[in-house]
Amino acid sequence: MGCQSNSSSQNATPPAFAIADGAQELDPSAIASDLVDRFGPGGMDPRVKALIPGFDAPFFQAGLAGYSDAAMRIIARRHGCPICVTEALLDRTLLDGGKGFAKADLGEIHDNVPGGDEDHPLIGQIMGSDPAEMAAAAIKMIEQGKLRSNKEYRKLAESDEPRATSHLGLGEDADHATRVASGQSPVPSSFAAIDVNLACPVKKISKKSRGGHWLREPEGAIEILQAVRDAVPDSIPVTVKMRRSYDDTPEMKQNFLYLFDAAYDLGCAWVVVHGRTVEQKYVGPSRWDPLKELVDRNPERIIMGSGDVWDVNQIFRMIAYTGVSGVSVARGCIGNPWIFRQARDLLEGREPREPTIGEQRAVLEQHFELALAVNKNFRDPELHTAKNMRKFGIKFAAHHPQALEVKKSFIYVKSLDDWEEILKKYYGMQPI
Ligand SMILES: Cc1cc2nc3c(=O)[nH]c(=O)nc-3n(C[C@H](O)[C@H](O)[C@H](O)COP(=O)(O)O)c2cc1C
Repeated sequence: MGCQSNSSSQNATPPAFAIADGAQELDPSAIASDLVDRFGPGGMDPRVKALIPGFDAPFFQAGLAGYSDAAMRIIARRHGCPICVTEALLDRTLLDGGKGFAKADLGEIHDNVPGGDEDHPLIGQIMGSDPAEMAAAAIKMIEQGKLRSNKEYRKLAESDEPRATSHLGLGEDADHATRVASGQSPVPSSFAAIDVNLACPVKKISKKSRGGHWLREPEGAIEILQAVRDAVPDSIPVTVKMRRSYDDTPEMKQNFLYLFDAAYDLGCAWVVVHGRTVEQKYVGPSRWDPLKELVDRNPERIIMGSGDVWDVNQIFRMIAYTGVSGVSVARGCIGNPWIFRQARDLLEGREPREPTIGEQRAVLEQHFELALAVNKNFRDPELHTAKNMRKFGIKFAAHHPQALEVKKSFIYVKSLDDWEEILKKYYGMQPI
């Protein structure tokens, strides 16, 4: 189970506009042009670029459990997405190393390692219940598990104050010291930031809070943020993902504000606020007004937004309506990497381009190929990939003139041959 229950039909409602009075009348091209006038090419808040130089446009691919592996991320990047987030990785899974895979009820490790040179900058997301385990997991992410043994990483979780920097041999290893001092990650090609998930509505395990359930126990969440911020080198931003509240009671709204303030006070670089409550899961529209109120009240803070970003227009409307510095694109980019190209189009003063059939075919080929590489350690990589690609194919089909027919054929894919057969039949591909 990921951040969305498997029975998604019960826990999600079809795409709809967010509750944001008048937002749909806002003109996305005018908003994009204003951003470029204000901030220069890319239209990105310079405070964000100063923290992560590659984050050069005001949108990113969200963590999406079960989807946002290196294959999906690389496809997004090839279409102009400046930065991606991994899916939420449970601290225990990370610390258990290989042994944790079978037990993992969240993201698998292989979905959460940078997918080569093309998969940067990348934000690694962690989620869990215990401050020291979260800190150790963050260190393992940053170090890419390369600087000590699995046992040592587990031991870190038992130490009082796990720290990345004190274990990097600063002074002994000039390379690490230089990298950290110059604001880079201690391990080349590591994560650009660590994101703490305080948003996921997935149920508690063993009565322990995790994800969005921390909004009911803000003091515990603060301990986690403190431990992670202390453990990660100062040069690497720690960010937070939160729902706008646990539910709509005044007490929970107060908890949200308390935790939100604490995150910045503890040195977190930004909070991504999803405009739904935890209780709401993915049912019903998100609300953008709480995001707007947060930005209005905290102009000095970097705030990012999430919720009901289904097409390129909503990226710019969310920015204009709420004032957030960046928009998390989640379900709106599944089977639709062109949303990022369209956002770049608007920022560069062009009409957003729809994908041609040839472009769709190229992406379908590339995505399968990349996914095969990501899944190479599975017993039957091709079968695993084919089954996993069905859900993407179904979404990609929406761009095809015979959407329903194409969608139906993706449902039965079992092999690369099946995939290519569909491409040949509907996308004009000759067999390889
Ligand atoms: C299938 C699925 C998996 C998700 N997994 C994660 C996750 O691992 N980490 C995270 O921060 N958010 C996760 N989310 C939440 C999204 O990032 C996003 O905040 C949410 O879907 C609201 O945006 P949307 O309405 O535009 O989709 C997930 C959402 C879905 C639908």
